[in-house]
Amino acid sequence: MMGTSVGILGTGKYVPERRLTNKELEQMVETNEEWIVSRTGIRERRIAESSQATSDLAYEASIRALEAAGITADQLDLIVVATITPDMFFPSTACILQEKLGAKKAAAFDLSAACSGFIYGLANAAGFIATGMYRYVLVVGAECLSRITDYTDRNTCILFGDGAGAVVLGEVPEGRGFKSFKLGADGAGGDLLRICGGGSRVPSTEQSVTERRHFIEMNGRDVFKFAVRVMGSAAEEALAAAGIDKADIDLLIPHQANIRIIQSALERLDLPEEKAAINLDRYGNMSSASIPVALAEAVEEGRVSEGDRLVLVGFGGGLTWGASVLVW
Ligand code: ACO
Repeated sequence: MMGTSVGILGTGKYVPERRLTNKELEQMVETNEEWIVSRTGIRERRIAESSQATSDLAYEASIRALEAAGITADQLDLIVVATITPDMFFPSTACILQEKLGAKKAAAFDLSAACSGFIYGLANAAGFIATGMYRYVLVVGAECLSRITDYTDRNTCILFGDGAGAVVLGEVPEGRGFKSFKLGADGAGGDLLRICGGGSRVPSTEQSVTERRHFIEMNGRDVFKFAVRVMGSAAEEALAAAGIDKADIDLLIPHQANIRIIQSALERLDLPEEKAAINLDRYGNMSSASIPVALAEAVEEGRVSEGDRLVLVGFGGGLTWGASVLVW
């Protein structure tokens, strides 16, 4: 794919302590545990403290990733934060994180590609390193989705949770690292999953807040169909570009939106469920944080060994999607 071999030098994750269970949601909206588990696979999610914002979660994940990579923050050349729940419009969450970490020489920017954001971020970072422009790049997927979730809307409030995952990218020995990236977008589907309020189209006003425009709106059924289609095809395209057969996948790290979406991707790739990293039962959908948290957990649990072939695949608002194949 590129001249320099670029790979992941260290991973880290952080999830807030507070758990929001399905039983608690039963008290908040007209729903029930059985419906949530059978339709989504989610049992609980984590919710940030009111004192915590996305950069605080990102910071915790980042210091762990830096430690695992064996580098210090001042060695970072670039920080990319993928998020749809930035601390504020600007400065970027990446700049806030840069200051918290003391990553003095790092450039920093946020990237908006919803749940595909982390894979978009990896592709960006790998490109910077492959061209020789940068040596070490921190890529973070971090979200406080609880802040943009309407807890009176049963269609969406059962799905989302807060958390952060981070990786440090750098040069790795030849033969290892990222083998391919496939990124895609279909803006025609943008209205299936969005927040309109608070932007330049629908600025925040008392009316926009009363109309709850500052919360996630979603057409779940159509997003579901899109996700099932694109998860399999994006993974297959990334595998083809990498010249790796699906039978040789050691671990699939999918976006964690719905267990049925993950199962359909596994079916399409002829993989058993043991070959997927699944954490949505514990965390729900953490958008850009879902994939890096699942990856960090797989590493912590010793499920990833040198030479393993991993496929990362996700989809999200935009609409967007992305997949990557890497050799650990
Ligand atoms: N509890 C009980 N009933 C519910 C709930 C709930 N929490 N939510 C919806 N229902 C009802 C609906 O109102 C509907 O009732 P109706 O038939 O009387 O209208 C019924 O359950 C079935 O609704 P469906 O939409 O058909 O349910 P489905 O099986 O599709 O599951 C779900 C809904 C879980 C949202 C599913 O469509 C899904 O996972 N979609 C993808 C969502 C997704 O991946 N989002 C990604 C967001 S990522 C990002 O970028 C932030």
